[in-house]
Amino acid sequence: MTMTRALRSSLVTAACGLAWAGPLAAADAPRPMGPISGPLEQCLACHRPGNPAEAVPLIAGQNEGYLRNQLRAFRERHRDGFPMPAFTVDLDDMAVIAYAERLSAMPWEPAAAPVASELALAAGAEAVDRHDCASCHGPAFLGAGEIPRLAGQNRAYLARQLRDFARAGRHHPPVGTGARMYHLDAAEVGAIATWLAALRPATDPGR
Ligand code: HEC
Ligand code: HEC
Repeated sequence: MTMTRALRSSLVTAACGLAWAGPLAAADAPRPMGPISGPLEQCLACHRPGNPAEAVPLIAGQNEGYLRNQLRAFRERHRDGFPMPAFTVDLDDMAVIAYAERLSAMPWEPAAAPVASELALAAGAEAVDRHDCASCHGPAFLGAGEIPRLAGQNRAYLARQLRDFARAGRHHPPVGTGARMYHLDAAEVGAIATWLAALRPATDPGR
């Protein structure tokens, strides 16, 4: 089912308080980095660090292969992350590749770290260590390729994803011998999300 531009527009306005011109309508919008089907600025108006409107993830500076996979997953309804299916339904593969390329070339600039007690951070560090999350996401939690950056990601967004994995609403690759992501409890989800959101690598090793 194709969503109309009017419906899409009302979704964005509701979620973000923005006037959405539609992906093809803003022909005169600035396009600083090569051909793309819609103005990236409108994506980033919602996906900005510290957007209080919703638990919106940071996508500028995210890893290219991971971004590409997510845009395809939204488009094909393999991932049901509101409101993204509506924004990806019309994207062809060239547009997906262009979005991923442009976004991944930008700097990864997390919002202010969440306020958290030493105790909460220690619980998060312990859980991440026990589950060996760094074995894939990397020692600095900056991932690579198809594995996402998590360090400094929006806390509420991370918590929602971890809850989704835990209830099998979103797929996460099996971890080790058992699919541990599917057995995280609420306390672990909160602790891990806080620890990851607060993580600031001393230097960005790039990719
Ligand atoms: C109205 C706000 C809004 C707009 C506009 C928007 N998004 Fe999103 N986007 C979201 C939200 C909220 C999520 C998280 C969905 C979930 O919880 O799974 C998301 C998720 C994503 C993700 C997955 C991030 C991750 O870490 O897995 C990508 C990639 C993405 N959006 C790209 C885009 C692109 C490209 C555009 C412009 C074409 C765009 N978004 C426009 C709100 C928005
Ligand atoms: C076997 C490798 C592997 C391990 C171990 C692993 N991950 Fe992941 N993780 C991935 C991959 C690959 C993805 C991307 C899945 C996709 O494309 O949707 C991902 C996605 C995620 C996401 C979604 C990020 C986003 O922006 O939406 C979160 C959060 C996450 N992992 C947290 C964890 C935590 C916490 C642990 C430890 C409990 C962990 N991962 C262990 C490979 C791994």
